[in-house]
Amino acid sequence: MHIGITGASGFLAQQIVRDALAHGHRVIPFSRRKGEPVTGCEPVRTFGPDIDLSGIEAIIHLAGESVLGLWTKQKRERILRSRIDGTRWIVDAIGKAPSRPSVLVSASGAAIYGNRGEETITESSATTSVGFLAEVANVWEAEGQKAEAAGTRYIPVRISLVFGKNGGAIPLIKNIFKSGLGGKLGSGKQWMSWIHLADIAALFLHALETESVHGPVNGASPNPIRNEEFTKVMGEILKRPTLFAAPEFALRLLPANEASLLLDSLRLIPEKAVQTGFSFRFPELRAALSDVLA
Ligand SMILES: NC(=O)c1ccc[n+]([C@@H]2O[C@H](COP(=O)([O-])OP(=O)(O)OC[C@H]3O[C@@H](n4cnc5c(N)ncnc54)[C@H](OP(=O)(O)O)[C@@H]3O)[C@@H](O)[C@H]2O)c1
Repeated sequence: MHIGITGASGFLAQQIVRDALAHGHRVIPFSRRKGEPVTGCEPVRTFGPDIDLSGIEAIIHLAGESVLGLWTKQKRERILRSRIDGTRWIVDAIGKAPSRPSVLVSASGAAIYGNRGEETITESSATTSVGFLAEVANVWEAEGQKAEAAGTRYIPVRISLVFGKNGGAIPLIKNIFKSGLGGKLGSGKQWMSWIHLADIAALFLHALETESVHGPVNGASPNPIRNEEFTKVMGEILKRPTLFAAPEFALRLLPANEASLLLDSLRLIPEKAVQTGFSFRFPELRAALSDVLA
């Protein structure tokens, strides 16, 4: 297939591009900047209001302002706006395309489920719009859903914390633990949902290539873990003490409710992936972390 991929320079996109090429697809990267060509791909196209979808049969949408960094008012506006506008550009272009792409697989966030304590969350669980990231994911999915009206299969992948060597949160977490400042956050009892980069990239392609996949897909490994257990495994692999503990009251001092990223409990199960025959390369935390921390 001819696959258009937005946010082509990003952490997930780089892996998805490599995998798509290995599956025999042709890739058309979209980027805000028409910079360097991407190895093995067609020429880069501009990601903006007049996005050109000619010849594109499927789209993977990953572009958006990073959620890492301090959530100032301006940053929050960029996080929200970039996702609404970018998805709108794609859906408008799908509506106008003489030959419509058959599928749009888009990033979304597991934060759409909110803070759920001990509950086990599948794709059938209720979502919430309480909290900044949940609100972002809701409006993002509402825009993407409009692609269905044009006959394009729309799959939002509700991505949990992605573990990879060279991007996302792992380099930062690794530095904290290596300096001996690693420790549980708050009570440490909260569930963390996570997925290895190799698996999230494969899951995007699985959703794109498998016509029976419809609607939201949870982008998480089948084995969520409590924060205290994650802390223990990190310490063991990096051979560092994990006596430091960040008390909840201190984390709550972070501006704009950013503490929710660290303290919310989310026990995600990738039910749809499993039911449609997806198999995880890194289902267990210890193997996943050993791989990315090596
Ligand atoms: N990594 C995770 O753990 C995780 C978890 C949940 C959800 N997600 C979501 O999955 C998507 C991909 O994640 P990622 O970690 O690969 O992100 P990333 O490395 O930050 O890449 C996102 C790409 O989006 C483009 N971009 C950046 N700022 C933008 C803006 N203001 N407006 C429009 N485009 C912008 C950039 O590509 P160009 O410069 O090429 O345009 C950038 O490389 C994101 O939407 C993210 O929210 C990621």
